[in-house]
Parts: sequence; structure tokens; C-alpha cells
Amino acid sequence: MKKLLAAVMAVVMCMAMLTACGTETPASVASDAVSAEASDAASAEASDVADVATLVVGTNAEFPPFEYLGDDGEVAGFEVDLLEAMAEKMGVEIEWQNMEFGAIVAAIGTKIDLGMSGMTITEERLQTVDFSEPYFEAVQYVMVAEGSDIATSDDLKNKVLGSQLGTTGNYFAEEIEGAEVKTYDTFVDAVNDLVAGRLDAVIIDKDPAIVFAGQNEGKVVALPGDQFNFEAELYGIAMPKGSEWAEKLNAALAEVKADGTYDALIAEYFID
Ligand code: ARG
Repeated sequence: MKKLLAAVMAVVMCMAMLTACGTETPASVASDAVSAEASDAASAEASDVADVATLVVGTNAEFPPFEYLGDDGEVAGFEVDLLEAMAEKMGVEIEWQNMEFGAIVAAIGTKIDLGMSGMTITEERLQTVDFSEPYFEAVQYVMVAEGSDIATSDDLKNKVLGSQLGTTGNYFAEEIEGAEVKTYDTFVDAVNDLVAGRLDAVIIDKDPAIVFAGQNEGKVVALPGDQFNFEAELYGIAMPKGSEWAEKLNAALAEVKADGTYDALIAEYFID
């Protein structure tokens, strides 16, 4: 576990260098080119930033309050509103593609242009994709049954732990001595198994943990990550290596922060 924490921290420090080192090669497959004339041409061909009218963005919409399916079946949430506000600044449209979290990174540059899904910037992911500047600081929490005596990282040893496939929480669970790790396609499934008594704990990002605990009040609780020595993680928007979108996204993020949009969305989606 120490090793990944160190990697996360190294990445945090590396972020400052990203603009300097991330732009040397243009992406071979920059995006789905949907220009005004190209109508339904959703071919994943290389295109200049200026030609692109629609960005296809992969997400796993079972991660409230960042992304979830609204009553109308459409993708909604903090990140959806944030990226759409940024897209307005960039003069592009966003097309959300709901998919498994574990499939997002591999799809970037072919099936999707970007990934935005509460995705922590990690050293491992940086080997295959670039990230925007971070837009949110998170930390892993531990969900347990109400009345559980689990309270520290030592208490997680030899327990049955659940998490979502391909997440940092899943990675941390695998590092815990003697733990039996169950991996789920979605966090919703993991939390359901916790509620059903099939898991001792779920390792999951803070804000979704708080939402899911609220939905299952009296049955499960969300314990703060510092009790388990989890450290801060930063969420970024993932894109192909060398993508020209880095600069545009970072500028748009700065704009929505400067004009108050970002703070308004934080106030809207986060209670604490
Ligand atoms: N922050 C964690 C990670 O990057 C979990 C993200 C899960 N996101 C989701 N939409 N299910 O691995």
C-alpha cells in the first residue's frame, strides 16, 4: 500500500510539469471528428483541435455525486455539469458514453476522446494517458456495517473486502494482508453486498461513500480514510498521450474556476 501512496504523491508533484512535458507529440487518434459538414461520421480519425465539434467522453455513471443516471436516464452529476460548462468555454459539444470504469483508460483515443469518471491521477495510468490539471481532491473511505468494530487499517487484515474493478480502492484492498478481495463491476453492487452481509468492508472514494451510506442509513456507515492512513488523491480528465486537448481543458477549467461556476457546482453537489 505504501508503494502506491508514494506513486500517487509522485504524480501530484509531477502535475506541475505536465504542461512542460505532455505536448510534444500530437495524438495519433485525437478524437471522433464530427465537423459541421461531416454529419454522422463518427470515425475515430485524427483531427485538429479546431475541427472537432463533439468530444466523446467515457464515464461510469454509478458514482454519485460525480456521475449517475438521472430520472430521465441521462448522465448527470457534478462532473457532467463541470465538463459541460468547460465545453461551452471551448466551443465544443460533449457526448457522454456510459461504460464500465475498468474499460475507460483502454478506450481513450479509440472509442472515446476523453475519460472523466472520478478518475484518480496515478503513475500507472500516466503510462498510457495524460491528465488535465486536477479538478477535485478525494480520498478513499471505508464503508462497513453499522456497529462493525473495524476502525483502523489493522482491522482490515484477513477481512472480506469489496471494491470496484480497476479502481484505486480495489488496488488498496489487494494490498491488505490476508484480505479476501471481491471485485465488482460497479460500486453499487459492492455496497449491496455489504448491506447483505457478504462483505466486511468496501473501499471506495469519500463522496460516493457518503451518498451510498445515506441511501442505506441504519445499515452501513462511511468511515474517514485518515483512520486507515489513506492519503489524498486527485481527479483529472484523462486523454490520449500528447493530446492537444490538455491545454484547452486546463484553460477552460481555469475559466470556470475564475467565473464562479466551479464553486457554484461544488455548493450544489457537496453537502459537507
Ligand atoms: N477514484 C477511483 C479511481 O480512480 C475510483 C473512481 C471510480 N469511478 C467511477 N465512476 N466508478 O480509481
